[in-house]
Amino acid sequence: MKRVALLGATGSIGRQAIEVEANPELELCAVASGSSSLDDVDAPLKQVGGDLTELLDKAEPDVVLNAVVGFAGIHATLWALEHGVDLALANKESLVAAGELALAAQRRGGGRILPVDSEHSALFQCLEGRAPEQVDTLVLTGSGGPFRGKTRDELGDVTPEEALAHPTWRMGPKITIDSATLANKGLELIEAHFLFGVEYERIEVVLQPTSIVHSLVRFRDGAALAHLGCPDMRVPISYALTYPERAATPLAPLDLITLTLEFQAPDLETFPMLALAREAGEKGGTYPCVFNAANEAAVAAFLEGRLRFLDIAEVVADALDRADGAPARDVADLMEVDRAARAIPVA
Ligand SMILES: NC(=O)c1ccc[n+]([C@@H]2O[C@H](COP(=O)([O-])OP(=O)(O)OC[C@H]3O[C@@H](n4cnc5c(N)ncnc54)[C@H](OP(=O)(O)O)[C@@H]3O)[C@@H](O)[C@H]2O)c1
Repeated sequence: MKRVALLGATGSIGRQAIEVEANPELELCAVASGSSSLDDVDAPLKQVGGDLTELLDKAEPDVVLNAVVGFAGIHATLWALEHGVDLALANKESLVAAGELALAAQRRGGGRILPVDSEHSALFQCLEGRAPEQVDTLVLTGSGGPFRGKTRDELGDVTPEEALAHPTWRMGPKITIDSATLANKGLELIEAHFLFGVEYERIEVVLQPTSIVHSLVRFRDGAALAHLGCPDMRVPISYALTYPERAATPLAPLDLITLTLEFQAPDLETFPMLALAREAGEKGGTYPCVFNAANEAAVAAFLEGRLRFLDIAEVVADALDRADGAPARDVADLMEVDRAARAIPVA
């Protein structure tokens, strides 16, 4: 029996995780949300808002499923890594922002990171048991979001409603906007670098519009191993929570006969966030933290109607230009970098 602490229980991942929790091998020992009620969730410990690490101290989980959205998940990520507790990580923003600090916490505490992001779950499975020198490149796939194929001229006046209409995944609003700008693929690029220790020049991004190929690994002998599945987050959530087992899920098998697997290169001129993320990742230090913070602020402003879609990338580029990127010595440093990057006016 694994005791699971589910943080972000009222969100898109959180709700799907509660379905996965029906597995008799899993026991929900604690749940948390930011401000939404948890009255309809059955768990011995519940917390709305407040310090997530206090809840984790009380809950003593075997695995923390961090499904909080944004930088707010950082303390829970570091808590799990420091305490040697398995971290089922949906909250990519915390690994992107904390980067080296998270890896140092992991070295001290020994906590494992089990990726929940479908692409990273796919890479994790394709890489399992392979020596690093066998790996040539990682290939992250993405759907391209609702605006794939559009030009910059066509994106000038898009509304939040249009940007929230994702073609293949049903997700929370922040990640859905990130998918429309390709910032999500940028965050995933940095996440993959920290998760798998592969340098940026060996991580490619390609679009696969139906989201059936969740990512692939190219090996030095010319073979490529891909992970295929329906776009349904219950699969990677279940894999992370039941690892190293592979529990049954209620999903229908993939119908191979009707599949079309088309791949495309991402359009980096129309969607500059992916290139900005790559640059921030390559520069290192706290540049990824700045990328993430400025993006969170810009996405919130876009959703509130205070910023145009194409200006999200302008705000992030501006924040990166202003930052010095000096590495963070500790979490307090990181929080200051995050705060300063958000403070850039977006209205
Ligand atoms: N959705 C997907 O399919 C998907 C796929 C891959 C990765 N992810 C990643 O998973 C994470 C969650 O995404 P989502 O789509 O599930 O987001 P979401 O639907 O917006 O849900 C976010 C959850 O975080 C909680 N939360 C926010 N701030 C909090 C705080 N300070 N303390 C505790 N809880 C807090 C929210 O609580 P309230 O309800 O009270 O606001 C909510 O439960 C993101 O990092 C995202 O990138 C999501």
